[in-house]
Amino acid sequence: MRKIHVAKDPQELSQIAGQLFFKKAQDAIKTSGRFSVALSGGSTPKRFYQHLADDFAERINWDMVHLFWGDERNVAPDHKDSNFRMVNETLLKSLPIPPNIYRIKGENKPKSAAKGYENEILNYFGENEVVFDLIFLGMGDDGHTASLFPESKALDINDRWVTENYIEKLNAWRITFTSKTINAARDIIFLVSGTGKAKILKNVLETQSGTYPSQMIQPTNGNILWLIDEAAANELNKKIT
Ligand code: 6PG
Repeated sequence: MRKIHVAKDPQELSQIAGQLFFKKAQDAIKTSGRFSVALSGGSTPKRFYQHLADDFAERINWDMVHLFWGDERNVAPDHKDSNFRMVNETLLKSLPIPPNIYRIKGENKPKSAAKGYENEILNYFGENEVVFDLIFLGMGDDGHTASLFPESKALDINDRWVTENYIEKLNAWRITFTSKTINAARDIIFLVSGTGKAKILKNVLETQSGTYPSQMIQPTNGNILWLIDEAAANELNKKIT
């Protein structure tokens, strides 16, 4: 089921995201003794990760949290563009107990990094279905999400959980969840903030064009929440919010 929630500003968006992370973590840990969550990269979630560090470091059993990434750049973990490095600096360094971390090894060759990560995911879920409890996503102003960019080969891959993906316009390799992995999740939360995303957000949410990779994200059995701020929601038809 699709829901849209408009937060006043980036701070409130991060606070709501923090509360949702906390609630879903508590529910999953209570039900199954562990919480599998995949984080997104980019700049939007930084404030949210910092908020988790500031307000939830002592409130979550981090040793029962299994932390994945929805995508990674093909760089080493200490590279300025690394999504791992960003999460490490905004969140992981501040936690009293480290979560169980499953890092995409961006320092490896793209195909090997993708295969290795897919094996880690399959090992984690074992005989069970690959169903993450929660996946956070961002959205670029071209409608990409994770590293599923328009016109890139990964959009057509639906028999794998993780794939390498060459992004022409960036002249760079990425490693990314496929839409199959994302759509299998129990809960998906998009975090979209700022006036720069208002136009693309309107196109993605209000047209069924299928033009944008973010429109491929349609949960199979789970829920999807578009957690956006007023600036990003500015061009939306008020009826849908
Ligand atoms: C990445 C992300 C990517 C990001 C969007 C939005 O690795 O960069 O996974 O999908 O979420 O590009 O990025 P911003 O939050 O910086 O706008």
